[in-house]
Amino acid sequence: MTQVDTLEKTNTKSDTVTLIDNATGKQYTFPVLHGSTGPRVIDTRSLYSETGMFTYDPGYTSTGSCDSKITFIDGDKGILLHRGYRIEDLAENCDFLEVCYLLLHGNLPTKKEHEGFVFTIAHHTMVHEKLRTFYNGFRSDAHPMAIMCGVTGALSAFYHDSTDIRNPRQREIASHRLIAKMPTMAAMAYKYSVGEPFVYPCNDLKYAENFLRMVFAVPTQDFKIDPAVARAMDKIFILHADHEQNASTSTVRLAGSSHANPFACIAAGIASLWGPAHGGANEAVIRMLTEIGSVDRVGEFIRRAKDPNDPFRLMGFGHRVYKNYDPRAKVLQKSAHEVLDALGMQDDPLLKLAIELERIALEDDYFVERKLFPNVDFYSGIILKAIGFPMTMFTVLFAVARTVGWIAQWQEMIEDPMQKIGRPRQLYSGPAERPFLPMEQR
Ligand code: CMC
Repeated sequence: MTQVDTLEKTNTKSDTVTLIDNATGKQYTFPVLHGSTGPRVIDTRSLYSETGMFTYDPGYTSTGSCDSKITFIDGDKGILLHRGYRIEDLAENCDFLEVCYLLLHGNLPTKKEHEGFVFTIAHHTMVHEKLRTFYNGFRSDAHPMAIMCGVTGALSAFYHDSTDIRNPRQREIASHRLIAKMPTMAAMAYKYSVGEPFVYPCNDLKYAENFLRMVFAVPTQDFKIDPAVARAMDKIFILHADHEQNASTSTVRLAGSSHANPFACIAAGIASLWGPAHGGANEAVIRMLTEIGSVDRVGEFIRRAKDPNDPFRLMGFGHRVYKNYDPRAKVLQKSAHEVLDALGMQDDPLLKLAIELERIALEDDYFVERKLFPNVDFYSGIILKAIGFPMTMFTVLFAVARTVGWIAQWQEMIEDPMQKIGRPRQLYSGPAERPFLPMEQR
């Protein structure tokens, strides 16, 4: 395994940036911070008090919102590290709960620590029986992400003994509960949508196996878990476990910055993940491949994706941070072949279409110049569809996996002595102050 050396954060006096205000001729000097790796960061915390100006950065393309030790991405080189370890190594050598432990605690678990963690998570997988009745309140055609937003937020009404965010033990219990219960709640959302009875968790099974059983088992027959499918599921969980300060993680941090309880914060993260520009993209990829339909129509859709007057985009392509191949997509490309082989679906038309689309896009100047490569969602949908999940469940699976990342980032924020309520400012372009107009004069 690769462990990246970490340097102590240094901030030498000479390492500064000077801002010259051309309007007044005044100069202001700001410190430059060094992370253990990655670009230098200008510390603008005193910008407003010193200059009376804000920064303007919609979409936060140049803004670091926090100091974090969990995940590092080098988007130009296509590198993703969790606590210093390469995602490819983790996906190849670990199970999902090992990665959860790593994200939460900072180090890979010893055998004993791993066993203890597996035991703890397994013993939190059941949900309060009354939570089951919540499901009956939803229409049977409800999107499972809508159900997940609701029931995850509702956990705070059930587990009062783990909502005091100032208490480290309560924070830890809430973390374990969320990681353990999310697959149970996700499987229940699926079962509800297809009108089948809920399946209780089984503590003897591994995390991914237990989830597959809760989704696909029915009371009338034995359920056999295909090891290739269980391994692919586990890999998908690992590859989605955390991804630095993306939209949903930033949402969780922002919600948590007001000291809201962890269940409410994770519900906010699920809502943010739902959008097609974020976690909803894996569902959108399959819709797009289905719409394209056959290899001879790929050219037409590539043309549409390049047309600035057409809102169509190639789903599963492009990333805010990766300007090189997404390392997660590489792992999943291989995994897609393995799963389809194991399921006897080597000739799956969607996989063939995806490979052709990827080949043509990667040779096209438009995509090359803009550094648009397949992202994690490009192949995950194909695997999930082959396993038998309906498209509406794809983003739910992403939420199950990302829960540990959200929780680890939320914990880090709460423990950070610099933590403040998140409160961005704005560039105001509305009307300046004007006299009130009585109704008869409007
Ligand atoms: N298809 C066609 N053109 C694209 C695409 C695409 N998928 N993505 C970006 N572009 C073009 C965009 O039109 C723009 O061109 P121009 O410079 O001529 O105006 C240029 O590339 C830069 O795009 P951008 O919108 O400024 O980039 P962004 O960093 O704001 O957006 C993104 C990143 C992921 C939202 C975007 O690439 C996209 O919409 N991709 C499709 C949706 C998708 O696959 N999302 C999953 C992201 S990975 C999983 C996750 O993190 O949740």
